[in-house]
Amino acid sequence: MKWTAAKIKALKGEQRIAMLTAYDALTASLVEDAGIPAILVGDSLGMTVLGYETTLPVGMDEMLHHTAAVSRGVKNALIIADMPFMSYQPSIAMALENAGRFIKEAHADAVKVEGGALRGELIESLVKNGVPVLGHIGLTPQSIKEMGGYKVQGKTSEQARQLMDDAMAVEQAGAFAIVLECVPAELGAMISGALSIPTIGIGAGVGCDGQVLVFTDLLGISGKPAPRFVKRFATLHPLISEALASYKSEVEDGSFPSEEHTY
Ligand code: KIV
Ligand code: NA
Repeated sequence: MKWTAAKIKALKGEQRIAMLTAYDALTASLVEDAGIPAILVGDSLGMTVLGYETTLPVGMDEMLHHTAAVSRGVKNALIIADMPFMSYQPSIAMALENAGRFIKEAHADAVKVEGGALRGELIESLVKNGVPVLGHIGLTPQSIKEMGGYKVQGKTSEQARQLMDDAMAVEQAGAFAIVLECVPAELGAMISGALSIPTIGIGAGVGCDGQVLVFTDLLGISGKPAPRFVKRFATLHPLISEALASYKSEVEDGSFPSEEHTY
């Protein structure tokens, strides 16, 4: 069964939603084969696989390239393309055009945009023009320069109220679900209870309707430290390093290839 935005939305109250990022056909097929229904082609790929310091330098061409690869790797999972920095902020017309490219050229099923009430009109235009939208509030990495660092959001009651209003506005605008990033668990649960669309938490507690993690974080592929909200379900980094070092030494000492790997 092909997952649609409407089907993901309908899971609210029925089943918790597992979402994971993927960046190419290989990682996407691994995610889909695990039965995970929704794949986010996150602009986190700028940091996790392209070597940028932040997500800000990531552009449309890079996102289209990776989203198209993901779409070649999956049959049924919902593919959500993350709209990169300044591909939607300047104008609604630009956002529609770029969202259209994700769907037409890269075979995405939906897009994600960062921001709350501020994006109401934009989300409404996308949805009315046939593009399902995943919202994203709380810590929004495209605003890192303005926020001044990767920090938990919504800690004061005033900020919490603002985030609740933002969540409501995103739902009102027609988003099928909303990512809540780095907010206290209590606020995550409160927003989840107030909305009729699913909340997808990352560092937002178990009270959300679903969770999202970054592929390379979940598997512990990078050797770098990760934020508190990351659970490493595997620690592949040392395994990969060991395998690569064994390859090098076996090539150098002539023990690879042996008879069994030789024609
Ligand atoms: O880019 C990304 O991977 C994301 C998720 C962490 C929500 O935006
Ligand atoms: Na992102």
